[in-house]
Amino acid sequence: MTRSPELYGIFGYPIGHSLSPLMQNTAFAHHGLDALYLPFAVHPEHIETAVKALRALAIRGVNVTIPHKQTVMPWLDELAPEARLIGAVNTIHLQDGHLIGYNTDGIGFVRSLAEEGAQVTGQRVLLLGAGGAARAIAVQLCLSGVQQLYVANRTRARAEELAMSLMQSFPHANIRVMAMEEQAFTACLPDLDMVVNATSVGMQPHAGDGEAVRASPLLPSTSLLPRHLVCDIVYHPQATPLLRAAQRQGARTVDGLGMLIHQGAEAFEIWTGRSFPLSLIRAKLLEALAKRTTPGSVPEQA
Ligand code: ATR
Repeated sequence: MTRSPELYGIFGYPIGHSLSPLMQNTAFAHHGLDALYLPFAVHPEHIETAVKALRALAIRGVNVTIPHKQTVMPWLDELAPEARLIGAVNTIHLQDGHLIGYNTDGIGFVRSLAEEGAQVTGQRVLLLGAGGAARAIAVQLCLSGVQQLYVANRTRARAEELAMSLMQSFPHANIRVMAMEEQAFTACLPDLDMVVNATSVGMQPHAGDGEAVRASPLLPSTSLLPRHLVCDIVYHPQATPLLRAAQRQGARTVDGLGMLIHQGAEAFEIWTGRSFPLSLIRAKLLEALAKRTTPGSVPEQA
């Protein structure tokens, strides 16, 4: 690095546990780029000033995480289509004096599946959750041509709200709300290809340890079949309760590490036009996560 590297960073509050600086600085070093990525703990009352400072300070790009993914939006010049559809931004690029907002969470999820050889197009998917992460994934599933999307959430009204807004954006998509109930899951799982947990269930370090009956507070594990692909956006070194149960049933599983890496990869490509060194980044993350005592969700750590 020279004395005046190109600057990048992440806005969040708090920001202490973010793995993005490790990922992005590793990628910059790998490509020999004169760039530095810093964590910025931006208090919510300063977010407008912080976004405007990007242009003043010529900071080329930032990631945006909790609680700023929506509040940055009014201060940007342009929004990429998926950021507009999701209604949240996790990446900002300063390009020719313009601040452009992107959302790479959903595409990161789909790319993490592709890395495992799994496609979304034509699939029948049960999505658990209706928060910000679920919304990013749901929009990308629709953009990628999912055949059928069921949305289930503890607070049913939020699932209904998400389904309604998806139906407005994707009038030809097949979207339904499902009750977050054992009976509903048991009846519908045989006709599905994929289950995605986009809730924060499974983040608790000891959640479900030793449990045999239920995959999580959400799903009866015996309804999972070997032909299911089961994904959890939460990363846990020993797999989340849902993924452990799916593995016991012989199903294929994908954890949240791939989504974390690929949302970062997509942001890096937007900023630099270069590809992310995926296996190097994965190794670095696993090393860093092994030193931690508690697991975390992708959106909170990105
Ligand atoms: P994020 O932006 O990370 O998705 P969020 O908007 O707070 O975070 O959403 C968290 C999701 O996890 C929601 O779908 C939430 O369900 P509610 O809408 O009912 O709150 C879900 N969730 C969190 N704890 C849960 C639990 N113990 N059981 C079931 N769902 C849970």
